Amino acid sequence: MTNILCIGAGYVGGPTMAMIAKQCPQHRVTVVDINQQRIDAWNSDKLPIYEPGLLEVVQVARGRNLFFSTEVDKGIVEADIIFVSVNTPTKTFGRGAGKAADLQYWEKTARQIVKNATGPKIVVEKSTLPVRTAHAMERILNHNPSDIHFDVVSNPEFLAEGTAIRDLEAPDRVLVGGRETESGQKAIQAVADVYAEWVPRERIITTNLWSSELSKLVANAFLAQRISSINAISALCEKTEANVNEVAHAIGTDSRIGSRFLRSSIGFGGSCFKKDILNLVYLCESYGLTEVAEYWEQVVKINDYQKTRFVTNIISTMFNTLAGKRIALLGAAFKADTSDTRESASLDVCRGLLEEHAQVILSDPHALKNAKADLGDLAEQIIFEPDPYKAAQDAHAIGLMTEWKMFADLDYQKVYDSMVKPAFIFDGRNILDHQKLFEIGFNVYPIGKSPLSHLDEEGNWQ
Ligand code: UDX
Ligand code: ADP
Repeated sequence: MTNILCIGAGYVGGPTMAMIAKQCPQHRVTVVDINQQRIDAWNSDKLPIYEPGLLEVVQVARGRNLFFSTEVDKGIVEADIIFVSVNTPTKTFGRGAGKAADLQYWEKTARQIVKNATGPKIVVEKSTLPVRTAHAMERILNHNPSDIHFDVVSNPEFLAEGTAIRDLEAPDRVLVGGRETESGQKAIQAVADVYAEWVPRERIITTNLWSSELSKLVANAFLAQRISSINAISALCEKTEANVNEVAHAIGTDSRIGSRFLRSSIGFGGSCFKKDILNLVYLCESYGLTEVAEYWEQVVKINDYQKTRFVTNIISTMFNTLAGKRIALLGAAFKADTSDTRESASLDVCRGLLEEHAQVILSDPHALKNAKADLGDLAEQIIFEPDPYKAAQDAHAIGLMTEWKMFADLDYQKVYDSMVKPAFIFDGRNILDHQKLFEIGFNVYPIGKSPLSHLDEEGNWQ
């Protein structure tokens, strides 16, 4: 039996440890967090995060070999392997503010491990970290009065929210990076062995520490780059009567390009993409690689441009004034099947519309609580309405922000009948049947496609 501890019971730590516990009944897995409320939720049937299939996995293992607790110190004493998945937000102060990772939670955790450990341990970086963080961690961990030896291993998590269970059950690969020393190699094997219980060995890649740390940043940068690339082309499509969906399909069938992550949208969100790219940019800048830094920063700039462009398009389409107009935004989550609103493009659109004094009604099946918290003081100006039909009632326009299936399945005739005319719909995800909406009477504005409008250039019905 191996005693596995995970420090940080968030979007990464919780699901990953639940899967390890499910697949490895012989190991004891404990997940600790300083947030009592979170731990209480993990111990209930109302988990702190919405993730399809997660509750079933938790229920298989919880109480058997999966435990959630706030006893961090005790957990450290007992553990053989410690996964660290505390948050590493972007720094908001000092050098590197707005770009570099804020490692204060990570460093605190490392110091807590040193303080409590009574024997050697493997410490696994699960959170995404800048390259060479492991070096700093090794120095903190291994300069201890009792001469206890710690091995630092990098094992970045590649799961995507909304499909976490599927991604954990059958990952494309598991990456484990460590030192080339004998004890470093043993530590890599110990971590690889845990995954080998259910992941085929050929999918477990082992590398040196720095390649592993960097690969996580680069994987996210490449994925985000694809979205910014297609979003940049969506702007050109709107000017040229090309259709971005057709272009994406046409280029995606080239096996060298591939079809995934080419869905044009209001822009990518989530806790990883922007943060990790800025991290990469900061890293390049600090090594004097200005051109490389500028290249990757452009991915974030195009993403910001796409969000701004969406709001500008709403304003100009709706006769250059939104003051007092009701606009229903369907979706607050940064993507479907999650309650997470971190960096959600929907909330940026929301802010843009509020600046124009629109009355925003925000609807989402699972993310309204997080949206309210993320919007801070602005939340007072917004109506939060879980029922999309009620949200759209008496609205001048609808903005489709998140690709929840329930939004694609709405009865749009019913929605149209309840709205102020002319009724506008801005499909920020291109998931609706635009022709059908047009026939119902909507003026339809997709992304990267010519609009379908009943109005002429002066705004008169045709
Ligand atoms: C991402 C990575 O996919 C995952 O491997 C890593 O571990 C964490 O970061 P996540 O942020 O959870 O996962 O979701 P992802 O599916 O990658 O979507 C990110 C954002 O891109 C969402 O806002 C999504 O709507 C958007 N997106 C995705 C697009 O706009 N178009 C696409 O084609 C794909
Ligand atoms: P991620 O998406 O990377 O999983 P989250 O913010 O969802 O990030 O989760 C990180 C978790 O780590 C939070 O629940 C937070 O309370 C926890 N955490 C932060 N610092 C510590 C610490 N020193 N000890 C234990 N838990 C911590």
